[in-house]
Amino acid sequence: AQRKQIDKVLALFRLTREQLVGVRDKMRVELEYGLKRDTHPLATVKMLPTYVCGMPDGTEKGKFLALDLGGTNFRVLLVKIRSGRRSVRMYNKIFAIPLEIMQGTGEEVNAGQGVPRSEVPACHPIQCRPGMTAALSLQLFDHIVQCIADFLDYMGLKGAQLPLGFTFSFPCRQASIDKGTLIEWTKGFKATDCEGEDVVDMLREAIKRRNEFDLDIVAVVNDTVGTMMTCGYEDRNCEVGLIAGTGSNMCYMEEMRNIELVEGDEGKMCINTEWGGFGDNGCLDDIRTQYDKEVDEGSLNPGKQSDRLALLQVRRILQQLGLDSTCEDSIVVKEVCGAVSRRAAELYGAGLAAIVEKRREDQGFEHLKITVGVDGTLYKLHPHFSRILQETVKELAPRCDVTFMLSEDGSGKGAALITAVAKRLQQARR
Ligand code: BG6
Repeated sequence: AQRKQIDKVLALFRLTREQLVGVRDKMRVELEYGLKRDTHPLATVKMLPTYVCGMPDGTEKGKFLALDLGGTNFRVLLVKIRSGRRSVRMYNKIFAIPLEIMQGTGEEVNAGQGVPRSEVPACHPIQCRPGMTAALSLQLFDHIVQCIADFLDYMGLKGAQLPLGFTFSFPCRQASIDKGTLIEWTKGFKATDCEGEDVVDMLREAIKRRNEFDLDIVAVVNDTVGTMMTCGYEDRNCEVGLIAGTGSNMCYMEEMRNIELVEGDEGKMCINTEWGGFGDNGCLDDIRTQYDKEVDEGSLNPGKQSDRLALLQVRRILQQLGLDSTCEDSIVVKEVCGAVSRRAAELYGAGLAAIVEKRREDQGFEHLKITVGVDGTLYKLHPHFSRILQETVKELAPRCDVTFMLSEDGSGKGAALITAVAKRLQQARR
């Protein structure tokens, strides 16, 4: 009887080919919806223009600072790009963002009155220095700047003047490459006073408050875009960036003529799809299970987004969770994890199939050869996820020859490359 019950539940997670074709086609509808001026404000797949219009041409060079916020780790990086040889050297340090800051209040700290910043919970105490008059201090951004200061110290670059690329992996509305208004927090971040604000301004102000170094924030970049750029530096066919990790998202190069929100018809621009919102309007309700609903209701943002694992490991994890389990229990848990992650990989595949098919049709090709740059712990560490994802894309977009390229260098490298291109264009305009 128990077996019957298990099979009944697991069956809910199994998607037929027809259902996956349906998901692909619905994603296509949502993509088009988000690109059109009239329907864009209501779109759940937000299709955000990024103002990244091209790949590096190999002439970029210089030293850049990059920040990478939004994945498992917060990183500060120094990226040295040499022209001609397409060689990039990187130095990076990982810093923790304490939970109190991730979900913090962003309360006012009046530094002028000498309220010690060390009261702000941080892994490195933030010092209040005399003469600072800034009234409003957002803890998160002060913490980021503290980490930059530590990194510059560590690299022997105290007081450096450097261009900076900011990988900020949350949905932002951009009006140019160096402006990004945070639409809403995702992935466990909740710091108040940030939504609706320009994250570049907030970072600039925090740098000013500290008054210790001069950084020119040239670009704000989503991690999907950074990943696409990192891989695009090696492979010119890379026109898609995919993240399967803490969050789920995808970006791709779109024809300018299709982006109604941005003036001009020439060339291409990268669109950050923010496809985590897919289904928020109910279009996937036919395949949602009661368990999806329960997970969603228990999440930080309800209504939004959301095998060789040896049995001994499963048992150990269950024990760590304080759950006493038998060997049979472990088998069941393993089966459930398998069913849930297979469905996730298939859904990724269906979404990706919609994008590559769109690219093929838009360019009028019988056949399309395209590379997808991928990053994220789920893709990298899960024993079957990448295979199932790739098989699904092949099945649902048979006229596209899709190569998957793993980003080994993270999206910070891509952010630095985007910064280098923007800097080159800035200088050419002068
Ligand atoms: C990293 C990127 O390599 O991958 C991040 O540099 C990105 O920007 C991350 O968010 C995604 O991975 P995860 O699994 O840590 O969320």
